[in-house]
Amino acid sequence: MNTDEPRIPRHIAIVMDGNGRWAERRHRPRSFGHRAGQKAVRQAIEFCLRQKVQALTLFAFSSENWKRPPTEVRALMELFLKALDKEVDELHQHGVRIAFTGELSAFESPLRERMEKAMRTTADNQALALNIAVNYGGRWDIAQAARKLAEAAARGELDPSSIDETTLGQHTCLANLPPPDLFIRTGGEHRISNFLLWQLAYAELYFTDTLWPDVDQACLAEALEDFSRRERRFGLTGAQIAKAAPAGS
Ligand code: IPE
Ligand code: IPE
Ligand code: MG
Repeated sequence: MNTDEPRIPRHIAIVMDGNGRWAERRHRPRSFGHRAGQKAVRQAIEFCLRQKVQALTLFAFSSENWKRPPTEVRALMELFLKALDKEVDELHQHGVRIAFTGELSAFESPLRERMEKAMRTTADNQALALNIAVNYGGRWDIAQAARKLAEAAARGELDPSSIDETTLGQHTCLANLPPPDLFIRTGGEHRISNFLLWQLAYAELYFTDTLWPDVDQACLAEALEDFSRRERRFGLTGAQIAKAAPAGS
């Protein structure tokens, strides 16, 4: 088992945290930090394309982030809109498939239309699956999957006794992709903050104090190096893993 375990994660999920503190340290408004964070987003995408990572999921706006001051929420929405106008063509040229993950109905029309257009335009791309989690919450994700199954059962299309981890998992977000192998959180906090609760079950967790706008390729390379030293056991013993993947393989 696991002889084929790649040293390069198939899927990286990142909580891009620390924009506000980065700006505050410079005596600038928090929105300044969010703008600066865009450069790090580009770095992360380039890094994944270069390393041939299959999927990158970025936490851009949580379902709880609506509770921030209205000026910050407005600035973030404007930034998303501008970023979509500015970046989608280039991402498309690089073969990036863009998907927005979360409850998109909460977004107003111009933004939502741009998101849907970006997803349509890039739908057939294969180089990298880029998921941007917006108005996303891990609990919401599990609840919406449960609701879909309940609706199918109510229609008589599904026997409730057949519901198991596989059927529920198939209705959670990102079910079309391998689950994240590597979870990265920048900004020094050691928590998941309602990100991919279901999908992260066996992800390797990596935390760095670097604030998101300061993240560059070297910082991501360090995370990857750390990942390649981990022994993933998936519930087995170390001896079982060693037997399945002899040293040097
Ligand atoms: C992450 O940075 C970006 C979003 C949550 C939108 P923060 O804005 O949370 O930055 P800090 O944690 O306050 O420094
Ligand atoms: C998580 O960061 C959400 C995003 C990065 C989009 P937060 O800054 O919102 O998380 P907490 O409040 O520190 O847990
Ligand atoms: Mg934060």
